[in-house]
Amino acid sequence: MAKILVTGGCGYIGSHTLVDLAENGFDVISVDDNSRSDPHILNGVEKITGKKIKNYKVDLCNYDDLFAIFQENEDITGIIHFAAYKSVGESVKEPLLYFENNLVSLMNLLKCVKEFQTPYFVFSSSCTVYGNPDKVPVTEKTPPKPAESPYGYTKQMGEQILNEFAKSSGTNCILLRYFNPVGAHPSCLIGETPLGKPENLVPVITQTAIGKIPKMTVFGDDYPTRDGSCLRDFIHVCDIAHAHTLALRYLEEKKNHSLCEVFNLGTGNGVTVLEAIKTFEKVNGVKLNYSIGPRRPGDVIAIYANNDLAKKLLGWDPGFSLDEMMSTAWKWEQKLKADDTILNKQKPDLN
Ligand code: WQD
Repeated sequence: MAKILVTGGCGYIGSHTLVDLAENGFDVISVDDNSRSDPHILNGVEKITGKKIKNYKVDLCNYDDLFAIFQENEDITGIIHFAAYKSVGESVKEPLLYFENNLVSLMNLLKCVKEFQTPYFVFSSSCTVYGNPDKVPVTEKTPPKPAESPYGYTKQMGEQILNEFAKSSGTNCILLRYFNPVGAHPSCLIGETPLGKPENLVPVITQTAIGKIPKMTVFGDDYPTRDGSCLRDFIHVCDIAHAHTLALRYLEEKKNHSLCEVFNLGTGNGVTVLEAIKTFEKVNGVKLNYSIGPRRPGDVIAIYANNDLAKKLLGWDPGFSLDEMMSTAWKWEQKLKADDTILNKQKPDLN
């Protein structure tokens, strides 16, 4: 059984990917220092899959500690690298923190991949590498524009590092560009657990609906879009997770055409911020308390994916609807409130 090392396995997309990998026959381990994630999320992963997944509580910026994990798991055949800081706003305030954490961790990982000749590497990239595109939908060939934030630059630089590393080391790499991951696992046993005040739209919506945020702000309704609010491609986190399993299978079956391939992971449907809010209200029968405020600096006006390549080559077929994205997100927020120790309740029997 192929053993996959998932960095950031206690995070939002990481935990959902652990579930998908385990359900599809992979043996998985996680490396997550839990500086920005909660190890208890693995209890939910275990409840869904019936499998206890080991997490190494290690900072990827500590090369020696990371090297020791590879020594202990010489049978690792693939890496999925999620672990990174991801707040656009924080990256603008703390650029060095972002460049150091996101790039040193990647380079330490690649040094180990080279040393242990790990054949497959899947990188968590983002539509943020496109900047503000001139034309939508964007394809993988759409030339990247200057990033809107240091966070975005770390994704662009990460892709460039992997391009060069793949050529020099012969490692088979795949870069997955997520659009806007939202929603929660239908079991309601895992979901997004933002630390502190959330920045992203859907957790802000659900925290407003539950009353944790008294009133949310729509950042601008004077954009050149159909209703004036920004346009995004919201994609269910479980569809994103499954794409990682398909990407590993694609590499294992040697279907890749080059050593470093890129895929857009979006639904291909553009949805505006106001449409997302209206869908949330309709699906969940909840009235949201929001007002229109000024634009948020660095926001992309409109972006959504052309996902033909992932569909054609990976056999990926995103199935969750926007309604399901909003209903699963709301159910998870209600679960968090009802059982506010949900991530701490069960004893952390995690290594
Ligand atoms: C979406 C839209 C906001 C909050 C970023 C990163 C991307 C990925 C996801 C990590 C924008 C509007 C938001 C609010 C609002 N990062 N909004 N009120 O900026 O598209 O993408 O997060 O995985 O790489 O770039 O996501 O959810 O922050 O914003 O009006 O309280 O919602 O202005 O138009 P974004 P977002």
